[in-house]
Formats: sequence, structure tokens, C-alpha cells
Amino acid sequence: MDNNYYNNDYNSQRPRRKVTRDTFRKRQLAAVCVISLILLIIIVAFAKACSHNSVSKKGDTKANKKAVVTTTTTADPAVTTAPPVTTATVTEPTTPDPNDTNSFQLDKYTIYVDVGSDELPYAFVQQYPDGSTEADEVWKSDNEAIATVDQYGHITGVSPGECYVILSSAKDPTKEAYVKVVVADSSGAQTATTAEGATTAEGATAAEGSETATTLSSNTQPQSSVTEASAPPVINDPALHYEHIGDQPVLIVNKTYAMNPADEPGGLESTTAAQFDKLCAAAAADGLTLWNASGYRSYSTQETIYNNYVSMSGQATADTFSARPGHSEHETGLAIDVNDPSDNFNNTKEAAWLAEHCYDYGFILRYPQGKQDITGYKYESWHIRYVGTAVSKEIQKSGKTLEEYFGITSQYQ
Ligand code: DAL
Ligand code: ZN
Repeated sequence: MDNNYYNNDYNSQRPRRKVTRDTFRKRQLAAVCVISLILLIIIVAFAKACSHNSVSKKGDTKANKKAVVTTTTTADPAVTTAPPVTTATVTEPTTPDPNDTNSFQLDKYTIYVDVGSDELPYAFVQQYPDGSTEADEVWKSDNEAIATVDQYGHITGVSPGECYVILSSAKDPTKEAYVKVVVADSSGAQTATTAEGATTAEGATAAEGSETATTLSSNTQPQSSVTEASAPPVINDPALHYEHIGDQPVLIVNKTYAMNPADEPGGLESTTAAQFDKLCAAAAADGLTLWNASGYRSYSTQETIYNNYVSMSGQATADTFSARPGHSEHETGLAIDVNDPSDNFNNTKEAAWLAEHCYDYGFILRYPQGKQDITGYKYESWHIRYVGTAVSKEIQKSGKTLEEYFGITSQYQ
């Protein structure tokens, strides 16, 4: 009854025109087209807004030369002491992504040379882009008034200052790697410097258990002015595994050899802490800020961290980047994660500087790139381990990991 009343009333006010089936279909099609067009406009506008806001990390290598590098903090539970990190704009070339197998990878991205030196330093090519070999190397300098480079990559300092030498492939010229060259005059001073932070580290504190800190001139080769620093004290416990380089004992803690929780120092070992301060002072003199993001960790802290990673990623994956409790070098008080213990650190100027200079202060880069099957861990550009300068320089010279040098394994039993 109500229904009839309503229909009658409606029909009396708005008489309906008869619409053929064909007209109805056409109207439907038109409506679908209009809606699709509106959706398309919305999607395009959204995509444009996103691309303006994002910073591309890859892409044109030349564009990378002026790339904006954004440093972010990490949520890693191991990080305890990171100072506030700000966003920084750099105008230097980015280093290649170390996980990119189709790019050049060099052993260093900064070279120091004196005017007129016979040394002719070079950056060793560790990896070539796909299809390229040593024969395809093309080297050029972007400022031959400061440094020249020969066809093999050997660099000659011409006058004090900074420039880049650029390696590309004759097979694929889009593949490039930049090496910063810092040229000092023959006295070691970079008089015509264009570098940021050209200050000295005078007044760096003297390290406990090591010789007095010497003055480090910015942007000169630090090897000549860095002092010796002793190995960390030996822990007298037959449960621990030591290897030796000459008379220098080296504590081994890896997947095969465990730390004894009873021997944990409760903090960073004192020579390690003092040498790290000197390392940071030298970095500061070169205009870079390094800090201890995660140093000593107790067995129980490591247990928490490892268990978190296992629950997030599963045990097999966690084992590639996090040590099981009892097996972390951090439990020895001899290891430090620098700045940002994540892959974000890999391509930074700070990581390149650390890889080049940590050996001068008695540290080694413990988990180098491409050695995962040997060390048991994927590349960690931020994890350094203190061994004393006699051992660190020997390890650096050998180009080996501790496992390779001593012929030992890193595998859980
Ligand atoms: N990330 C290193 C392997 C550790 O957990 O000690
Ligand atoms: Zn670490």
C-alpha cells in the first residue's frame, strides 16, 4: 500500500522518459570514461608530487655528483649513544653502492699525495662493471693543474689543492667511479686548500696506555704523524682463543670461538676507548664527525638484540648480521659500531674515511665486503675492532681478515 502510494507520487512529479537499451549502454560507457579520466588525473598528480619530494639514490652517475645525501637515525636497539643527526647536503660524488655487482668498486675513494712525490698512489679496482675488465679502464683528472692520472690510474700531485680523478669503462662510459685527490706541497701542507674543515687536531688528548697524541694536519697523510698504540691486555683464561702475530696476541671471538661472559669487562676497554677518541679527533680535523653508536655490550644485551632480530627476520637471516650471545666482539669491549650501524653508512664520506684511517689507530675493519663466507657476517662498514697498531697495520698490509690471516673458521659448532 505504502509502496504504491510512493511510486504513484514520484511518478506524478517526475514523469520518466523512455530510454532505449542502446542509449542506456552509451550513457553507462560515457560515465565509465569520465570516472577513469578523473582517476588518471589524480594518479598523475600524486606521482608528480611524490617524485618532487624524493631524492634519487641511483640513476645518472653525473647527477649523483651533486646528490643530496640524507642521513637518518636508526632504530637499531644496539645504538645507545648516537648524537642528534642532521640532514646534510654534500657536493661530492657518491661512492658506488657496494651491493651493486654491475659497478666499479675501489679499495679507496680518497688519495693523499705530495707535489712531486715519486710514490704515484692509486686506487685498486676490486670489481668491474659487467663485461668490463682492467683493459677497459679509462682514467681522467677533472683538474690537471692539481693532479694528473695515467692510463693505469697512477696519480701525480701537480700543485696543492683538491680535485677528482674519474674512472670509467671504455665498454660502458656511463659506469664511473670518483676518487678524491688531496694534494699537499712537499712539506705536507695543503696551502692552496679548497677543503672544508682545514684545521689541525692540536690538543688531542693523550691516550691512556699509549704514547702521547701528536698533531695531525688536516688533509695530509696521517700515517706519518700517528703514534704506535699497544695491544689490549691479554685475559688470562684458557677458555678464550688467542692467535699470535709475532709476539702480539689477538683475541678471537667469532662464530667458532666464544667470549666467556665471566671475562666481560663491563665497558669499553680503556686503550680502545682512548684510541677511538684519537681517531675521532683526526676525523674532526678532516671535517668529519664520528661517534660511538654501540661499543661494549654484555651477554644479556647481545641476547636481547639477537633475539629481536631472530623474531623479525628468522634465525638464518639474523645469523648473517648479528652474533649469537657469547659470540659478539662487542662483549669483549674491543669493538665499536661507528655512527650508523646500518647499510645507510656504507656510502658515506665517514665510512670511506674510517676504512682508510682506522688501521692507523689500531683498529681493523672486521667484516669487509665480499668476505661473508669467511667472517660469517655480511659487510659492516661501521664495525671496527681494536687490536693495537702493530697488528692492525699487519692486517691492513695483508689485505686479509683475521680468519684468513690465521687460517681459522667462523662457524657455529
Ligand atoms: N653485528 C656483529 C656481527 C655483532 O653482532 O657482533
Ligand atoms: Zn658491531
